[in-house]
Formats: sequence, C-alpha cells, structure tokens
Amino acid sequence: MEMNIALLPGDGIGPEVIAQAVKVVKAVGKKFGHTIHFEEAPVGATAIDLIGDPYPDSTHDVCLRADAVLFGAIGDPKYDNDPKAKVRPEQGLLRMRQKLGLFANVRPTFTFPSLIHKSPLKIERVEGVDFVFFRELTGGVYFGEPRGRNEQGTKAFDTNVYSKEEITRLARMGFEAAQKRRKLLTCVDKANVLATSRLWRETVQELAPEYPDVKVEYEFVDAVAMRLIQWPKAYDVLITENLFGDILTDEASVISGSMGLMPSASLGTVNKLFEPIHGSYPQAAGKDIANPLATVLSAAMMFDYAFGLKAEAQAITDVVNKSLAEGVVTEDIAEGGKAYKTSEVGDWLAANV
Ligand code: IPM
Ligand code: MN
Repeated sequence: MEMNIALLPGDGIGPEVIAQAVKVVKAVGKKFGHTIHFEEAPVGATAIDLIGDPYPDSTHDVCLRADAVLFGAIGDPKYDNDPKAKVRPEQGLLRMRQKLGLFANVRPTFTFPSLIHKSPLKIERVEGVDFVFFRELTGGVYFGEPRGRNEQGTKAFDTNVYSKEEITRLARMGFEAAQKRRKLLTCVDKANVLATSRLWRETVQELAPEYPDVKVEYEFVDAVAMRLIQWPKAYDVLITENLFGDILTDEASVISGSMGLMPSASLGTVNKLFEPIHGSYPQAAGKDIANPLATVLSAAMMFDYAFGLKAEAQAITDVVNKSLAEGVVTEDIAEGGKAYKTSEVGDWLAANV
C-alpha cells in the first residue's frame, strides 16, 4: 500500500516522540512492504514562532493532502501565565479539529500487565480493564455561540449546543465499535439537568433498535466519574459530549497505571489524526528522556483506523509489550532498572518490530 502521512510534531517533547514513531512506522512499512511518504508541518507554539499562527493554512494543506496525520503535542508555558495573550497554541488545536472535521475522539484505556502495580487503584479493580471513550470533538460548549462577555465585562457566558446530526454520527461510531467489542454502550450525559443531554439520550434511544446486539446503558456524568474509579471493568464503549469527554478521559488515562502511555485517534469523515494523550511536557523537552510509547501506540492506531491494517497495528503493540517485558524503557517507568533514552527506545522498537 502507498501511504501519505503528515507529521505535526508540535511543541515540547512532541518532536522527540514523533521521531521515534517515525522510526517504527518505517520499520513496519519495510516489514510489510508498504511505501510510506512523510510530510512535516509546524503547529502550536512552534507555528506561532515561525508563522504567527498556531495552525497555519500551509499546515492545513499538508493535512488535507495526507491519508493520516501523526500529531505530537502542543503547548508552551510561556502562554500559560499570560491570560491576555492574543494567540494561543490551543487555539490551533481547536481550529485544526474543526477544519479537518475530526468529530470523534477515540481514547482507549487498557492495561499493560507489567505496569499494573503503578495504578493508583487496587490491582483487582484494574486487572483486565479495557474500555474506550468516543468523545464528541467538534461541538458542544467548546464551539457553541454566543460566547464571551457582556459590555461591562462583569459577566461571561458559553453556549452548549448539539444537533441531532452531530450526536447521531458520534453515537453510530460508538455502536459500531461496541458491536466489535463486548457489546456494551454507555451513554454519558446529564439528562436530569441539561436540554442538550436530553437530546443525546433521546437520539441514542432512537438508534438503539438498529443495533439489537448492543446493550445500551444511560448514566449521568457525575456517576460515571465515580464508577470509573470504583469499578472500571464495568465499561466497554462510552460515548459523550465534548466537555464531559475531556474531563473523563483524563481521569481514565491514569487508572491503568500507564499514565503517559495511552494513544488516541481523532476521526472525521475524511481526515484522521493520531496523537498521544499526554501533553507537551516542556520540562523534558530536548533531554531525550520522554516516553515515546504513547506516540508509537498512536501510530498503531493509525495503521488500524486509517488503513485497516490490523496485522501492522498488532506488530507495533507486540513490540511495545516486548520492550516493557524486557525493560527497554525510559526513566519514568524504569523503576531502578536501566533507564533508556527516548531515541534508544525508538531504535530498539524499530529493530525488533
Ligand atoms: C485535550 C486537551 C484540549 C481539549 C485542550 C488543550 C484544548 O485538553 O485534547 O483533551 O480540551 O480538548
Ligand atoms: Mn483534555
């Protein structure tokens, strides 16, 4: 197969972890006989510094040309302490999601047996946890209008808005994923309070008969926040709106003990983007110590979701498991064993895939 992949390394540790994923993707391409082209473009603070825009048109064009986008991380502390900064790296991320139509953010949580003891939860609660969030990504309160302040600046407002169409396309992805998994779908909402949530629930109820093999549960977001900690094994596929999904997927990303190891995909009808759940970790930038596994696993998701190449995806997951088993890991999970550099882990994975 011939593949065009856009590389958007972004800020902080982004370039270092993307470089390792590229090594692994190239090795997989060689092993399975694919021709892979890469095209790199700036995003985030890096793009502000270069071009004055966190998601320049030139970068958008590179993404449009590609079959899939591999994204590192964005964010730079120099913007965090300046609430009045006119352009912020995060705006680039939101604009990119919107312009590429990436309406579904897929965030899995699964366990690595060798890391389970690092979970903040008791082992019996975590062993075998395997669920996936489908977070709506281009609607809701993140984008709803009106938003802003009154004239005096003494009141601020945001608008949460969802159309039936937006809910339907996200929910269908969730139903289809559930059919291929354990056939349980949880709709996470706040239907006891919010009109938008009542539309979510109603829409999902109407779709459910089309997927008779899937059991559907409806749960309030506050209850899910609790049950994710108490008994995360209760879940299989969860669907939810943008803001609830933002919060719950951060909660979910730490329960397996593999914080910093979870990958994600953002899917649209045409474009597909893959990125680690972790951020730009500026303190580690340039030190060759960041853990590249979340980005490498995001590349595995790319083979699966963007190209339908499951064996290639599995080969990456397998080599990651092997590196964990053999202790070829960065300092964050080395636990007194040898701490390998970011680049060494990437080289090892590429050589062993
Ligand atoms: C995420 C991030 C973003 C979000 C921020 C950086 C805008 O937290 O990808 O989850 O809230 O969606
Ligand atoms: Mn978030």
